[in-house]
Amino acid sequence: MSARVCVFILTLSTLHGPRAVSGVLSGPTNVSLTSFNMNLVLRWDPPEGAAGGLVYTSEYKSRFTPYKTICTNSSQLQCDFSSQPDSSISVYGKFTGRVRAQLGAESSDWVESKEIFLDRDTVIGPPNVSLISTEDTIEVIITDPVFARSTLKEAYGASNVIYNITHWKEGHEKEAVSRTNLLQSRFVLDKLERWTSYCVQVHINALMNPKPGEPSTPVCERTTSKPGVPWVAAVVTFLVIAVAAAALVLAVVYRKRISNFLCPKDLLPQRFKEAPKSSMYMAMRDSHPPEEHYDPVSIVADDGTVEEGSPLQDTGTSCSLIVGES
Ligand SMILES: *[C@@H]1O[C@H](CO)[C@@H](O)[C@H](O)[C@H]1NC(C)=O
Ligand SMILES: *[C@@H]1O[C@H](CO)[C@@H](O)[C@H](O)[C@H]1NC(C)=O
Ligand SMILES: *[C@@H]1O[C@H](CO)[C@@H](O)[C@H](O)[C@H]1NC(C)=O
Ligand SMILES: *[C@@H]1O[C@H](CO)[C@@H](O)[C@H](O)[C@H]1NC(C)=O
Repeated sequence: MSARVCVFILTLSTLHGPRAVSGVLSGPTNVSLTSFNMNLVLRWDPPEGAAGGLVYTSEYKSRFTPYKTICTNSSQLQCDFSSQPDSSISVYGKFTGRVRAQLGAESSDWVESKEIFLDRDTVIGPPNVSLISTEDTIEVIITDPVFARSTLKEAYGASNVIYNITHWKEGHEKEAVSRTNLLQSRFVLDKLERWTSYCVQVHINALMNPKPGEPSTPVCERTTSKPGVPWVAAVVTFLVIAVAAAALVLAVVYRKRISNFLCPKDLLPQRFKEAPKSSMYMAMRDSHPPEEHYDPVSIVADDGTVEEGSPLQDTGTSCSLIVGES
């Protein structure tokens, strides 16, 4: 057993030893090709025991195209192949990346990544979630993550994208309820308790992609806590109180007029005497039976002088006097 291990180590050192001795750079380690929301990024760690000043050159190929160099002499430990506007990266492609380290004129060997299928292996990021609450419902509005290539629904087909909505009463995460296989990006959670805060988290599953998408950060909303609802109630209450108060003030100010209206025996207000042709006066006059009319009266005084005029021009006229003269 230990002899076999010894032979293995010896074989390794005969393979790599001479290079190290001759000063050839060893290659980057942990080289992996990753994808998040349909981008294509190669990541790696520096070579074992690497000195400073290393730069890297990285390339990718698809199953049908040869290697294409994207990042040259870069000191970063990653290269985003999909950042190139002219890159021929298809959502349905199969890709491999490779990278080599360089120090001055020396170059390491290329270190190749595993091959990945973009649509199958990409990590679907969290969607954006916003909530609109009413008394006992919360509407969940989901915005798909933005893809580097295509859109979520174009890439997988709208009927192959499903949402998993989990909701719970704030502080009761253990009692969370999930609804899965939802195709619509809007969903109403109903029959909720009033004046209660609920939290919602959504993740996306695509049939072609075996990994569940990353969950959104939980967002919480309170039922009947929308700023509009108490505000409207307050305004309505205020208006009702204001109208009631105004009615009361008017009732006090026009108390006399109202009592005149209710009790015509009281004295007519001064205005009626000053403006006998006012519409209210005419209406009052017209409401009398048609045979009623007014004639000028002549009052012959004891000393023989004659005063003429309509009875209503008489300043001392009262309600009962008009009725008596008609
Ligand atoms: C490679 O990755 C593993 C696990 O992530 C880590 O333990 C190791 O240190 C990495 N190698 C280098 C050279 O960074
Ligand atoms: C990258 O570095 C090598 C070695 O220093 C140099 O020969 C080459 O011209 C550089 N390439 C670019 C694009 O800067
Ligand atoms: C998600 O929402 C935040 C804040 O409302 C916004 O800044 C961001 O652009 C949104 N992202 C998407 C993909 O809609
Ligand atoms: C839906 O999401 C919940 C919470 O993340 C999880 O427990 C459940 O397994 C998911 N269901 C499906 C079908 O993905």
